[in-house]
Amino acid sequence: MSPYYQKQNATLFQGNCLDVLKHLDPESVDMVFADPPYRLSNNGISCQNGRVVSVNKGAWDKSEGVEKDFHFHEQWIRACQKVLKPQGTIWISGTYHSIYACGFLLQRLGFKILNDICWFKPNAAPNMGCRCFTASHETLLWAKKDPKAKHIFHYDLMKNNVWPGDDIKKHNKQMRSVWQISTPKKSEKTFGKHPTQKPLALLKRIILASTNKGDLILDPFTGSSTTGVIALELERSFVGIDVNRDYLDLSIKRFEHLHPQHESFL
Ligand SMILES: C[S@@+](CC[C@H](N)C(=O)[O-])C[C@H]1O[C@@H](n2cnc3c(N)ncnc32)[C@H](O)[C@@H]1O
Repeated sequence: MSPYYQKQNATLFQGNCLDVLKHLDPESVDMVFADPPYRLSNNGISCQNGRVVSVNKGAWDKSEGVEKDFHFHEQWIRACQKVLKPQGTIWISGTYHSIYACGFLLQRLGFKILNDICWFKPNAAPNMGCRCFTASHETLLWAKKDPKAKHIFHYDLMKNNVWPGDDIKKHNKQMRSVWQISTPKKSEKTFGKHPTQKPLALLKRIILASTNKGDLILDPFTGSSTTGVIALELERSFVGIDVNRDYLDLSIKRFEHLHPQHESFL
């Protein structure tokens, strides 16, 4: 299968990840970061810069009902399981719309869950309906493929590094499972916007914690390739997949402008 883009350590494929993943070598990937459609675009409202806006992200994020959504998550997690090395790990992000299904599937498919991380967003949008609490976090599940394998975790780096903007992390104390990280800065959207773009700081923490230099990282729902930007900056190899060409073109712009003075904050 020919890639949409290939340069040095970065490869992008255009298509449904269920099709593309069949073409990757089994047990070739060190770490998967998956930010799948949460399937929450069902005509709700939110607030952006003081204005009421729709929560809809795109047709790709519409729910098909609990059963079909569950089946979709099962298919892509199984496909990632095949390409992961035995000692490999997977990260999955989500909200209550998707994360319980993904967590149950990880357990049912034989993964061992290592952590559920609460990504706390101090600048989360206010709740317009005022009929429930304001959603201000997402969950990240971290699991290993083989419960008996020795996975990578850079404990000392997590403990001793400086994590700007995180008031919860105390210097030289163990890193806990609640991470305070703001939503992406304006400077991270210089080349265009993705409706569900993840912050660079979140991916920096994940990749530093769970991979080594030279490792191969896969993102099956790459979007604007936040995962790829950090993977390349940290000298890892990256494979990203997305159905949408516009998002891949945005990814390419981000890759081609990768330079310490641009997006990098490392
Ligand atoms: C939540 S977004 C990922 C955003 C990304 N983490 C970022 O920082 O930009 C999910 C992405 O998955 C893509 N997508 C949806 N269904 C897909 C599928 N079956 N295969 C591959 N990509 C898909 C969408 O086009 C969207 O860009």
